[in-house]
Amino acid sequence: MRSGRYKGEKSMEKKKFYLTTPIYYPSDKLHIGHTYCTVATDAIARYKRLAGYDVMFLTGTDEHGQKIEDKAKEAGVTPQEFVDRIVDGENGIRDLWKLMNISNDRFIRTTDDYHVAAIQKIFKKMYDNGDIYKGTYKGKYCKPCESFWTESQLVDGKCPDCGREVQDAEEEAYFFRLSKYADRIRDLLENTDFLQPRSRVHEMVKNFIDPGLEDLCVSRTSFSWGVPVDFDPGHVVYVWVDALFNYATAMGYQNDRYHDYEHYWPADVHIVGKEIVRFHSIIWPAMLMSVGEPLPKHVFGHGWLLLDGGKMSKSKGNVVDPYILADKFGVDALRFFLMRTFPFGSDGNFSNELLIQTINTDLANDLGNLVSRTTAMVGKYFGGKLPAGCRTWDAPEAFDTELISMARALRGAYEEQMESFAPHKALDEIFKVIQRANKYIDECAPWVLAKDMEANGARLAHVLYNLLETARICGILLSPFMPESCEKLFAQIGADETVRTWDSAAAWGSLSETATVTKGENLFPRIDMDKALAELEELEAAARKAAAGNTVEVEPQLTEKVDFDTFCKNDFRAVKVKACEAVKKSDKLLKFTLDDGTGTDRQILSGVHKFYEPEQLVGKTLVAIVNLPPRKMMGLESNGMLISAVHKENGEEKLHLIMVDDSIPAGAKLC
Ligand code: ME8
Ligand code: MG
Repeated sequence: MRSGRYKGEKSMEKKKFYLTTPIYYPSDKLHIGHTYCTVATDAIARYKRLAGYDVMFLTGTDEHGQKIEDKAKEAGVTPQEFVDRIVDGENGIRDLWKLMNISNDRFIRTTDDYHVAAIQKIFKKMYDNGDIYKGTYKGKYCKPCESFWTESQLVDGKCPDCGREVQDAEEEAYFFRLSKYADRIRDLLENTDFLQPRSRVHEMVKNFIDPGLEDLCVSRTSFSWGVPVDFDPGHVVYVWVDALFNYATAMGYQNDRYHDYEHYWPADVHIVGKEIVRFHSIIWPAMLMSVGEPLPKHVFGHGWLLLDGGKMSKSKGNVVDPYILADKFGVDALRFFLMRTFPFGSDGNFSNELLIQTINTDLANDLGNLVSRTTAMVGKYFGGKLPAGCRTWDAPEAFDTELISMARALRGAYEEQMESFAPHKALDEIFKVIQRANKYIDECAPWVLAKDMEANGARLAHVLYNLLETARICGILLSPFMPESCEKLFAQIGADETVRTWDSAAAWGSLSETATVTKGENLFPRIDMDKALAELEELEAAARKAAAGNTVEVEPQLTEKVDFDTFCKNDFRAVKVKACEAVKKSDKLLKFTLDDGTGTDRQILSGVHKFYEPEQLVGKTLVAIVNLPPRKMMGLESNGMLISAVHKENGEEKLHLIMVDDSIPAGAKLC
C-alpha cells in the first residue's frame, strides 16, 4: 500500500502501466532506427497517460562489453569516458530523446552502481539455487552482436543475426540452466499472448525451442568491461543477464536506489526490435523463473527500418541522422511519419521521399487543411466566435450524421488498435475521420452558405462547429504522436484543458459553442519535394564529413622493446627505381626493378598500386630493407621490402612510400 491509503481506496487509484524500450548500446550515435523504437514506446506511454493510467516509462543505455572497450581504445579514452560522451555529451542519447520529446520517467545506465551491485546479487542467487554452474564454453561468438551461437544456429557459417564472420571461442565459463525451463517457455509462448505479434511465436519455437534449448553461457573472461562475478574474479557477467535485468533493477529490484518494484513489476510490455526477441521471450522469462519473480505481461517485437532493403545499423554505417530530419521537418512531423508509415510489427523501407510525401499528404493536406480551412472560415464569417446554439441542428443531413457518428466512434476504434500495439492502425482510424471531415466541407460548401448569412448563417455555424469538434477529437487522439502540434491545434480551435481529455474525446459536443477560434500559423506547411531532397542531401553529406572530421589515425606504438643488436641486423638501403610495372592479375602489386648499388638489379614486389601508378615512381629514390629472405608473390620473387608510411584518414587507408633526396646514391646504408 502506497502513501498510507486505506484498503478500500485502492480501487480508486489509477491502474499502473509499466513499459520499456530496449536499453541502447552507446557504441555510436543513435540513428533513425533507434528513434523509431523509442518514439513508438513514447506514443504508447503518452496514450496510456491520456487514458488515465499511472505510467512508468523506462529507457536507458547498455554499457558493457568488448565492442565499446575496443572503440574506447581506438578513441584513446576509457570505456566509461567513451560512453559518457555518447550518453550525456552534446547531441548524445539524452539530447536526442529530449529533442524527440520522449517522456520517459526514468533512465537507467547499466554502469550505475546500484545496477551493478544488484546484478552481482542476482547472479549469485541463480548460482546458489543451482541454475548457474561452471563448465567449458566451446562455440562461436559474434563480436559485433555480442552473441554466442552453436554451430547449428549459424547461417552459412555466419552470425544468423548480422551475417558477419563468427569466431571460435573456448573458455571456462558459467552456464545458466536454460534447458530446464524449455517446457515452461514453450507453454508461455504457445499458450499465452505473452509474445506479440503472434507471427514471432512461430519463429521462436521453430528456431530455438524445437531444436532443443541448450544451457546458456553467462560469463566471459576475455574482456573486463562489464559486471564482475564477485565470487570468481576474472569472470564478467554475460551482457544479456546484465542488460535484461535493467527492467527490474531500475524499479528497485535487489537495490535500495528505487522503491517502485512492488508497485510497477511485472512490466506490462517490453517493446523491442525483432532481433532481440529471442533474448526477451526465452532467456528473460527463464531467468525470472529462476529467481522466482513474476513475468512481464507482454513482449512486443517490432520490425526494422530498412535503408535500400538492408537493416539500418551503426556497425554497417548506413544510418539516417534523426537530428537532421527533426531540424528540417520538425519533431512532430518526424514522429508522426515513423508511426504512420510503417506497420509496427513489420519491416519498412525508409526514404526521404516517403517522409516528405507523408508530411505533404497527411499533415499538410488532410490535417493541416482541415484545421486551417475551418479556423479561417470561423474567422471570416463569424469574427472568430460561433453563435450560441450552433451545437445542434434540427434537420441533419446524411453527411452530418455520418461525420458525427464516425467522430463519436473514433475513440473506441483508436483504443482497440492502441491496446493491440498497432499505432499505425490507430492513426489510420483518425485519418479516416479527417478525410471524412474534409469531404464534409466540400459537401456543405460553406462559401455558398455564406453568401446569404441571414438565411443560412445558423446552418453555416453548425457546419463549422461540427468541423471544430472533429478537429478537437482528432487532436486529442493525435496528441500522443504529436504533442506540440496538438497543443497548437487546441489553441487555434479554442479547446481549453477541460476539453482535451480522454473522456471528452468520446463526448461529442464538448467544445464550447462560443469558443474563441484563431487562425494561427499553418500547422504543417507543404514541403517542396525536390528542393527539400536536394537540401537534405547536402546536409547529410556535410554531417558525414563533420562526423568523420579530419581524423588521422596511426597505429599505436609498440611497447615491447627490441634490443639494439637485433635492430642493427636490419639492413636499410637507399634504392633507385629503374623500372616499375603492374603485376598481371593483381590489382595491388607493383614490380620494382631497383638499383641497390651492388651492380645487380634487385626485384621487389610491393602492394602499393592502390596509391601509385608505376610511371610516377620511375627515377625515385626509395628506402628498402634488403636482407629479408626472398618471398614469392603471384609467382614472382621479391627480395626485400620497400618502406612506407601508413595511416588512416577519415577511416580510409593511406600510404606514402618513403622517398629520399635524389642526391643520395643507390646503396647508401641508412642507420
Ligand atoms: O540491442 N530499425 O541495443 P541496440 C528498427 N543493448 N529498430 C532498430 C533499428 C532499425 N534499423 N536498429 C536498431 C540492443 N533498432 C541491446 C538491448 S535490452 C535489455 C538490450 C532497435 O542499441 C533494435 O531493434 O543495438 C533494438 O530494439 C534497439 O534499437 C536497441 O538496439
Ligand atoms: Mg543491435
